[in-house]
Amino acid sequence: MSATPASQVLDRVLVMEMVRVTEAAAIAASLMVGRGDEKAADAAAVEAMRKAFDILDIDGTVVIGEGERDEAPMLFIGEKVGGAPGTGPRIDIALDPLEGTTITAKAGPNALAVLAAAEEGCLLNAPDVYMDKIAVGPGYTEGVIDLSKSPSANVEAVAKAKGVRPNEIIVCVLDRPRHAELIGELRELGCGIQLIPDGDVAGVIAVTDENTTIDMYMGSGGAPEGVLAAAALRCVGGQFQGRLLFRNDDERGRARKWGIEDLNRIYALEDLAKGDCIFAATGVTDGSLLQGVKRLRGGRMTTESVVMRAASGTVRWVKGDHRR
Ligand code: FBP
Repeated sequence: MSATPASQVLDRVLVMEMVRVTEAAAIAASLMVGRGDEKAADAAAVEAMRKAFDILDIDGTVVIGEGERDEAPMLFIGEKVGGAPGTGPRIDIALDPLEGTTITAKAGPNALAVLAAAEEGCLLNAPDVYMDKIAVGPGYTEGVIDLSKSPSANVEAVAKAKGVRPNEIIVCVLDRPRHAELIGELRELGCGIQLIPDGDVAGVIAVTDENTTIDMYMGSGGAPEGVLAAAALRCVGGQFQGRLLFRNDDERGRARKWGIEDLNRIYALEDLAKGDCIFAATGVTDGSLLQGVKRLRGGRMTTESVVMRAASGTVRWVKGDHRR
């Protein structure tokens, strides 16, 4: 009997199943919230996510994971996951079992367990380098943002399209010394800047939700996180561009190893996550997107997750009540 095509499985089975995987990682990581141990928090999430994949009827391959095979014991790039190797539909998976290890260690906001799944070959195999990112929410004319232009030009274009002045635009930026120039330029324009300590997947997704009041995301963060955020925006709408940033020849070499030839390329959403894809996330700590795991009396736990699919544009919010 031939395997069900991945395109059908993405809808029929995986949309809800993926939530179990992010829930498992979030629940495991939640035991480490505020414990001051990034590594242990990450390890707990990785192990739980790895196990949760085993019950899925897929022939999965990790294309964005915890690192290369020699760096990560589990969920490394190229690792096969899923309970139906060779027989199930072939699915590529980008994952971050704990997006926000430091946030979790310090019990800060917006830590997530997150993954994206797509048909084989549809997610960019991004090397673990930085990516310069810009994002805006849905409802704007295509091309309103352009990474090749200055931050000021981008803010002015978005302000004009929104019908407000540039000083009414709010931009989310990772709070890092490397962003001093960007922040200075945005301050000159009088923009509101929401500085986040970590967690730019949630930072990028925040532009899609008008309740956050964040209009734009700008600045550099991890390239793998860029692919995950792009998968989410493919499902929910919005625009995103990213360009890989290289600090040395080793990083350039990593990119070439993954088949990236044009090192200055500006990637649009479809270049990062094309075709149909699923994005799933569960909150570890409370944040702008999701509530974190709550551990209640008697061993009960509640979780909040979101799962979205690009082909249908459906966004499902899933509340879990887990009893041991
Ligand atoms: P981790 O969960 O791996 O700690 O990543 C958190 C994060 O803030 C990402 O959201 C972001 O893309 C990246 O780190 C930024 O890297 P850096 O801390 O080096 O600026």
